[in-house]
Amino acid sequence: MRQISLKAALDRAACADDFAVLEIARPACPDGGILVRNVHLSLDPYIGPRLRGRHMGEAPPAPMLDPVPGAVVGQVAESRSPGIVEGDWIHSMEGGWQEYSAIAAGAFRKLDPAAAPLAAHAGVLGMPGLTAWAGITQLAKVTDGDTVLVDAAAGPVGGTAGQIARLKGAARVVGIAGGPQKCRLVCETYGFDACIDYRSDGWKDRLKEALPDGASVFFENVSAEMAMTALSVSRPYVRGVLCGLTGASPSAGPAPHALNAGLLIGKRAQLSGLVVYDFYPHWDVFAEEASGWIRSGKLRFCEDRAAGLESAPALFEKLMRGENVGKAVITVSKEAP
Ligand SMILES: NC(=O)c1ccc[n+]([C@@H]2O[C@H](COP(=O)([O-])OP(=O)(O)OC[C@H]3O[C@@H](n4cnc5c(N)ncnc54)[C@H](OP(=O)(O)O)[C@@H]3O)[C@@H](O)[C@H]2O)c1
Repeated sequence: MRQISLKAALDRAACADDFAVLEIARPACPDGGILVRNVHLSLDPYIGPRLRGRHMGEAPPAPMLDPVPGAVVGQVAESRSPGIVEGDWIHSMEGGWQEYSAIAAGAFRKLDPAAAPLAAHAGVLGMPGLTAWAGITQLAKVTDGDTVLVDAAAGPVGGTAGQIARLKGAARVVGIAGGPQKCRLVCETYGFDACIDYRSDGWKDRLKEALPDGASVFFENVSAEMAMTALSVSRPYVRGVLCGLTGASPSAGPAPHALNAGLLIGKRAQLSGLVVYDFYPHWDVFAEEASGWIRSGKLRFCEDRAAGLESAPALFEKLMRGENVGKAVITVSKEAP
């Protein structure tokens, strides 16, 4: 089978040429676990720092040996796990960039293939969707009348966060995104009330105009600088969710993540750091609620999809540049074998 690995250790943002496609033996089914034929592979921003050993203390994959880490949606090819049979569908955060994965007991969730399109389990029903749900419902606890500001709003986390905020009663949802195409997606498909293009002149003035009464919640995906901009257009007692730092420099060494303490005090801000791992026990509850929203058309999503394992490096480079429009997904093999 084929697997994609790093060619060599990295200390900068990865580009497509940093990866090699290897031919290796298909792994054996582990005791108590499953062997999975990977169908959809999720490309996510955390993989960038993870490849450099700068994500949650997790070791980087060994070059020319380990697969690049990544979540998968796949079909069970062999099972030594009670209650799981060949042909079942699963999601796992431990799949990796490869055609088949040996997945240990407890490292996968069984899926109902009728609940939603299968690739949705990589995005809106997968880790990005769970992240959005956790930030909006468990940390910020968005409720009737809130005004919610979200950046990287065209992405799977931001776009889902804004829609869930609306479903939980937010009166106004405003996004920030890069470029007119992304802003159109945010307003026309995700139904935000407004989306401000931060690459256009005078965007901070337009952001203030879009939030005449200030934000009561902000969901931060990009940087400390963006978080401080969000805070500056927020009401006192604002609840802020700090979710991501995609705008931070990928170069080696600690990035400057300065928060303005005076502004935080003046706004009486309540900030919550979000790590999605804490919410894995809620995954089934979240997925059931979100599947219903998808089926009824209340929760929409967009994919930036490519076919074939070998297309993963190029799509990943695009994701690292922030050029993806929607969830980056690789369809590794056909849904029907
Ligand atoms: N805390 C957690 O547990 C957790 C879990 C999942 C995801 N996250 C974080 O949530 C955020 C959104 O994730 P996602 O999957 O929805 O990603 P995404 O939105 O598809 O991609 C990240 C977006 O960040 C924006 N961006 C701004 N500056 C950038 C830069 N210098 N380089 C690249 N992108 C830049 C781009 O959107 P614009 O063009 O609109 O600026 C880009 O599309 C990420 O920060 C991710 O790491 C955190």
